[in-house]
Amino acid sequence: MSVRLGFRLRDNVPYFSSDVFCFPLDCFGRHACVFGRTGSGKSTTAKIVLYELLRNGVSVLVFDRVGEFNVFDCGRVLVPGEGFRVAPLAFEGDDVVSGVESIVSLFNNFFFTTYFCPLSPLQARVLRDVLEGYYYRFSEIMKVSRLVEEIKVVQSRYSRVKGWVEGCEALVSRLYPFSKGVLAKVFDSSEDSLDRVLFDGLTIVDLSVLPTDEAKNFLTNIVCDRVYRLGKRLEPSNRLKLVIVVDEAHNVAPYIPNYIGVLEKIAIELRKYGISLITVSTRPTLVSKNIIANSNLIISHSLTSNEDIRLVLNYMVNELEQESFIPVLRTLNVGEALVQANLPEYGCRAIKVKVGLPEHEHVISARPRYIQKEEGEKVYDELSKVCDQIPAYVKRILYTIACSGENLTVKSLPISKRKLKEIAYTYNIIEVRGDKIILTEYGSKIARRLLAIK
Ligand SMILES: Nc1ncnc2c1ncn2[C@@H]1O[C@H](COP(=O)(O)OP(=O)(O)OP(=O)(O)O)[C@@H](O)[C@H]1O
Ligand SMILES: [Mg+2]
Repeated sequence: MSVRLGFRLRDNVPYFSSDVFCFPLDCFGRHACVFGRTGSGKSTTAKIVLYELLRNGVSVLVFDRVGEFNVFDCGRVLVPGEGFRVAPLAFEGDDVVSGVESIVSLFNNFFFTTYFCPLSPLQARVLRDVLEGYYYRFSEIMKVSRLVEEIKVVQSRYSRVKGWVEGCEALVSRLYPFSKGVLAKVFDSSEDSLDRVLFDGLTIVDLSVLPTDEAKNFLTNIVCDRVYRLGKRLEPSNRLKLVIVVDEAHNVAPYIPNYIGVLEKIAIELRKYGISLITVSTRPTLVSKNIIANSNLIISHSLTSNEDIRLVLNYMVNELEQESFIPVLRTLNVGEALVQANLPEYGCRAIKVKVGLPEHEHVISARPRYIQKEEGEKVYDELSKVCDQIPAYVKRILYTIACSGENLTVKSLPISKRKLKEIAYTYNIIEVRGDKIILTEYGSKIARRLLAIK
């Protein structure tokens, strides 16, 4: 039972040496990370590992943000809005109080990972009151559109109380998009089509059909939340049952000091139930340290940023060797990787590998099967184009500033002042004045569009 990753590379030995690099399935007992700059071969590596896992009879659940994993003959693709819907406000059991608490926690995770700030105590209270009020009266699962309406009622009822209008407005403006248009087909539902099928063979959640990063994050959080709950009900076991692949993981498991989201909870708590995580990302420094530190297998393709290289090497080689590995990581070709699987037969050393065997060729060269994307009711103007081009982490900063009433200090963001200035210069959407960050006029326009405030 092993995973064959590719050919081991040694100096002066060509790729097609018969030195196949493989590692036992046990390596997934403690999670895996795949890093590398854009285009270095991360997703291809993830696909090859996925192929190998399936060959070994392990079930795999993939969160596919760009629609590139649909290259396998087996398995099912869950296309949001086309037979695949979720009910974000559903809970298990009959206890309304703990059920509502689990929904509040789901929203808290979503807000934290997407907007860099959790629900405020007031927002959590409003959510709790509205949800409890509903579930004590009705047994049917509440829809997001109903939640938005009820928060609006609370907002107008307490319009004279300081802070309530803004707190409720931020909730409404973030949830409103999920209750309208294309997104309503996925999220505004009282039926949840997720079940144990997730633990059977290959399941790909095709997030690429969703128009916004927020929707992709929300759906990932919801599905992971369900997996976490289902996983905890399994019998503890040493057998690997499910591997969850999260591509572009910095979006859903970002590095926020002292924060434990649902993916971290899966990484920390579900190992003993046979559930493992593969996080894939371009920037290890942007990914949750809790996840990297709990990973036993690290596959790093080429990296360019010194910060990223040092962080990855910290987990791959001992301190004395780090300097000598910096040029190795910088000069890896596409598809080549440095792999640390902590294998005694290699003296626990990091190994250079050319990922892919001849048997994997069909996985490497396969084109994803096309899935019809819905255009929806989105008005595609200049501003939408700009919104699409802004990277997710910059959008998150925009949200945070917009939702903080523009009263934000540099220190409250997990990003350096130098980086903020670089963003200010590149995108002209924020200004850094001393310790304060404010939105430019252009930035406010974009933030309003992103928050869907009319
Ligand atoms: N192991 C490999 N063997 C051969 N070609 C590869 C290999 N890995 C990647 N490639 C080539 O490089 C291209 C980019 O790879 P891939 O999409 O996996 O990169 P990525 O790091 O996921 O990029 P992105 O950051 O854009 O998601 C692939 O289309 C493929 O042609
Ligand atoms: Mg990729």
